[in-house]
Amino acid sequence: MQIFLDTAILDEVKKGAETGLVDGCTTNPTLAAKAGRNYNDVLKEICSIVKGPVSAETVSLDADGMVKEGIAFSKIAKNIVIKVPMTVEGMKACQRLTKQGIKVNVTLIFSANQALLAAKSGAFFVSPFVGRLDDIGKIGMDVVREIKQVYGNYKFKTQILVASVRNPIHVLDAAKIGADIATMPYSVFEQLFMHTLTDAGIKKFLEDWEKVPKKR
Ligand code: E4P
Repeated sequence: MQIFLDTAILDEVKKGAETGLVDGCTTNPTLAAKAGRNYNDVLKEICSIVKGPVSAETVSLDADGMVKEGIAFSKIAKNIVIKVPMTVEGMKACQRLTKQGIKVNVTLIFSANQALLAAKSGAFFVSPFVGRLDDIGKIGMDVVREIKQVYGNYKFKTQILVASVRNPIHVLDAAKIGADIATMPYSVFEQLFMHTLTDAGIKKFLEDWEKVPKKR
């Protein structure tokens, strides 16, 4: 499974990229606001650090506006992917951008039917928001499982990009289901490395190493 960072904060993107384990990046208006810088500038810098896909989100509500924004974003770098929302207008924009060879990530997906429409519209990625579903008492991962089944039935090429990831259990569940990608906050990425037994094991090995006779 590919790992994307869900952030517009350059420091996090750099630290993530340095591990050699980050395959791409996703951003949205909320993350852009947190970064507190010009969105286009941030996207350009992220694209110079991360070689894989970097999602840039449109904010227009009509297809014409989304296509216009999408074309402008796509000029920033070759690895930009355009995020459009799962709406009728979003699907029109997805079809138009895809026809122009621009990759689209259909965002704000909360059901497998929505993911079916996105795939039929030629989406490169579909982003089911698992955390936000969990927040309202649903099981977000059930939707991911259903999307996987539907896409398998019809051999859709659209990749499942699990989003709104809140913890390492989401990451593991996404991998167990066979999702193509999980995008996560840097804090969750860091947690994936950690285990108390790893820390305890290192401490013990270092203590014991001190007891090994050394040549003088
Ligand atoms: C990424 O593409 C999504 O915009 C993001 O994962 C949403 O996460 P949130 O539900 O934590 O805001």
